[in-house]
Amino acid sequence: MFEKWVSTILLLQFFCVNCGFCRKVLVWPCEMSHWLNLKIILEELLQRGHEVTILTSSQSYLVDYHDPFTFNFEVIFVSGTREDAEKKINEFVDAAVNIMPSLSFWESAKLFQNLFLDITEQFEEICQKAVYNESLMEKLRETKYDVMVIDPVFPVGSWWLSCLGSLL
Ligand SMILES: *[C@@H]1O[C@H](CO)[C@@H](O)[C@H](O)[C@H]1NC(C)=O
Repeated sequence: MFEKWVSTILLLQFFCVNCGFCRKVLVWPCEMSHWLNLKIILEELLQRGHEVTILTSSQSYLVDYHDPFTFNFEVIFVSGTREDAEKKINEFVDAAVNIMPSLSFWESAKLFQNLFLDITEQFEEICQKAVYNESLMEKLRETKYDVMVIDPVFPVGSWWLSCLGSLL
């Protein structure tokens, strides 16, 4: 908790207090509580006049990309629906909280692996559709973002980071 606050404060300090230097911020978020925590910080950045763009998928069920009054959104269109994604995440959480504690170590490891592979497939599609979309990449390059905020839980964050030099 303490560490979370420290990093939040550091992040907010980085984006100076009054907006003499407004920055363009690109965000690669994750779902669930991760997004809810991050959203509070991003809303604060908006209030301070920074321009915040969220890179999210059409399957996202908490990141509300239909809401035009908050952030800018770049939506990556994927095959599954929001309901599919929500169901998978709920299955994952249910298994972790309710089922795995009653299984043996190996049974529980096996179940976890299967669920993890399932979710990874979903993540993979999103990442591929972002990374291999030339016109999306061009658009991001042209916008010249100053900063990128990455949730490390979601894959390819480090790929974006290695691209920072040319992308941002
Ligand atoms: C690629 O990105 C552009 C710009 O965001 C979007 O309009 C287009 O639909 C995307 N193409 C594919 C195949 O996802």
